[in-house]
Amino acid sequence: MINISKLIKQRQQYSTILEDNSKLFIKPIDELGDVTFRGEFLIEKNGKLKKKQIQFQQHILVYSKNKHINILNATLLLHLTNLNEIEGLKFIKSGTSIDIYNNVIELYNYARKYCIQRDIPERYKITSTLYYGSNATFLQLESTLQHKAVYVAKIYEKQNYTTQDQVSGLKKEVQILRQLNHSQISNLVEIYENDELIFLIMEELKGETLQGLLENSQEFNESQIKQIMRPLFECVAYLHNNNIFHRDIKPQNIKFRQSDDYLQPCLIDFSLADNWNKNGRYLFTRCGSVGYVAPEVLQDKKYILNIDVYSLGVILYILATKKHPFEDAEHSKKILKNYNGKVDFTQVQCSQILLDLIRKCLEVDFTTRPSCKEILSHPFFSNRIPKLLSFKIKDQRKSTGIKSARIIHFNSANNLALEESMNSLSQSKSPSSFGSQRRSLKLQKQKTVFPEINISQSKSKYFQTRYTQYESLN
Ligand SMILES: Nc1ncnc2c1ncn2[C@@H]1O[C@H](COP(=O)(O)OP(=O)(O)O)[C@@H](O)[C@H]1O
Ligand SMILES: [Mg+2]
Repeated sequence: MINISKLIKQRQQYSTILEDNSKLFIKPIDELGDVTFRGEFLIEKNGKLKKKQIQFQQHILVYSKNKHINILNATLLLHLTNLNEIEGLKFIKSGTSIDIYNNVIELYNYARKYCIQRDIPERYKITSTLYYGSNATFLQLESTLQHKAVYVAKIYEKQNYTTQDQVSGLKKEVQILRQLNHSQISNLVEIYENDELIFLIMEELKGETLQGLLENSQEFNESQIKQIMRPLFECVAYLHNNNIFHRDIKPQNIKFRQSDDYLQPCLIDFSLADNWNKNGRYLFTRCGSVGYVAPEVLQDKKYILNIDVYSLGVILYILATKKHPFEDAEHSKKILKNYNGKVDFTQVQCSQILLDLIRKCLEVDFTTRPSCKEILSHPFFSNRIPKLLSFKIKDQRKSTGIKSARIIHFNSANNLALEESMNSLSQSKSPSSFGSQRRSLKLQKQKTVFPEINISQSKSKYFQTRYTQYESLN
């Protein structure tokens, strides 16, 4: 009896919202692809340590001819020395476990994004609240294990995930983030979970969002536009190469890695990203942000990866003109313009070569719109400027256009309240403490108004997030 209840308790403790019902020890899988990590370690078996060469293909550890180990969503516990140094790893799933020792730091760094860890209060100290969104809260954290390295935690409250679609959406975001590793992305580092919360620990991006720069009426010359946009097209080409589209590229979802370096723009917010498929049906099919989404998405056509090229084209247009391509006093007309992809190019005052690039990205017919890879060899990026196209910059742009309310950061008193709440929650496991703090903070959160096309308005009717279903334009 005692043993059974202990086992049940342990299973409850290690249950996860990301549950995929897979076992730790599995039959060998054919065609796993390339080896992504290998090394020689000490494996504990029946109380004895045995030296063994192991190799990983993504989250599958090729253990022997007859056995593979699937660490996806396994609980990962650390064996620590008295000096708080990692000497071993324990992977636990479906009532079974495996222990691995001997210089496991690299293995830990490799495996942790596929697993789930449990003891966040011992690993991280909260240093500030970065952003308080409707779906997730962002905290800045300092690692207690890795010489005070700074990370960002995207925190979801599990109690808000009541429907199957919501849970599938969260699983999809994590699945996509686990597939990615790129310098222009805030990469996923590891995942923690407790009874109430799930924490996605990501690389910290210290700079502004592109939206923030636009709100500050930052002007960009064409060489700066090139510097910002080339890495973004490269990043999206990497996504597309891996058959993934972002589907919500907009200035709010572009953030710079360093505050004083505009050469390193990064893509954030993969909550609407998915793997492209032939049948054109997704967990969320008609999704994105009005003003940036490709017309074929609004028109319910079977779209392809180059919907992201369109969104990048809208950003190019904004950077070049300081205006939104679908600007209109009437909201419904803006949506209609976006729906039809009706862009007034007579307003664009920039070099012919940049204008040509913007036109190509904003091509309504997506079957002729270039791919990201093709865009990267456009003369604007490849520096091969045809003689016929003169490089004249008429920089008589007005500094109006893109204005929106700043995202409000909470004052330090509020930060403290949330930090205390999280810390006490992680230890006391009080189900209501975080929720009540969150509710009180929610009241103080200023609604973000987005440029020209008010996306917060569109959220209810035309904008689909993971939690709101769209309504047809008809
Ligand atoms: N890696 C990061 N580093 C620093 N701040 C971040 C990071 N990721 C997100 N943020 C902050 O959180 C905000 C919202 O992030 P996002 O992923 O777009 O979530 P949402 O789903 O609420 O739009 C960003 O505008 C930024 O201020
Ligand atoms: Mg966002």
